[in-house]
Amino acid sequence: MNLVVCKEPDDLASRAAAEFVRIAKESIVERGAFTVALSGGSTPILLYKRLLDSSLDWGRVFFYFGDERNVLPDEDASNFKGANKALFRPLRIREDNIFRWRTELETPDDVAEDYEQTLQKLSPDVPRFDLILLGMGSDGHTASLFPGTDALSETTRCATANWVPQLGSWRFTLSYTVINNSRNVLFLVAGEDKAEMVKEVIEGDADLPARSVRPVSGKLTWFLDRASASDLADVNI
Ligand code: 6PG
Repeated sequence: MNLVVCKEPDDLASRAAAEFVRIAKESIVERGAFTVALSGGSTPILLYKRLLDSSLDWGRVFFYFGDERNVLPDEDASNFKGANKALFRPLRIREDNIFRWRTELETPDDVAEDYEQTLQKLSPDVPRFDLILLGMGSDGHTASLFPGTDALSETTRCATANWVPQLGSWRFTLSYTVINNSRNVLFLVAGEDKAEMVKEVIEGDADLPARSVRPVSGKLTWFLDRASASDLADVNI
């Protein structure tokens, strides 16, 4: 596991954007395309803004989502809406290059099955993303893999609906099966409120969702800021 500790969230966004672009260019050279699953929440928005200045062949970049909330794509809580506003629209990304969870479908299982089919078009086996971006909640959840929820033990599906009692709502998430099959996984975690959980996940041994992200033959990198890394032992910032 690689650890990159930056002074401020802006530095974290810049360093993560540089890594995003490096992986993207490498993927496009090696395979002619770059497949990335974006994370939700607020942290990645800083990264998306940094990417607007990048010189990438965006026509060869294919965007998926690591998770989604049970809301329509035009609602503020939608992870798709956040990425669309900060990244897709400013870069004029073609609709054909964006694969969102179709949360407008009738039931949570319909949404999950539809995304499973979408992923199968990417690969008949378990898709191997070039990059999966992840955040982490202060409870140690990542994507929409929350402590104590059924999706943690999903081993066959790549995309699943997950009832989250803590939220009293459905969520949609990639499973560890596909997350741990990725070539690269970047965690982006900033803020004092995450410091205790960052220490637990990186230095502890508790059974926490974010600790189960261990790419089988891929690279795992944590991008932290000074605040979220403040409880880690021997980290010089
Ligand atoms: C979501 C996410 C979730 C998020 C963390 C951190 O849909 O909310 O995918 O896993 O990454 O909750 O969120 P922040 O970046 O907003 O702290």
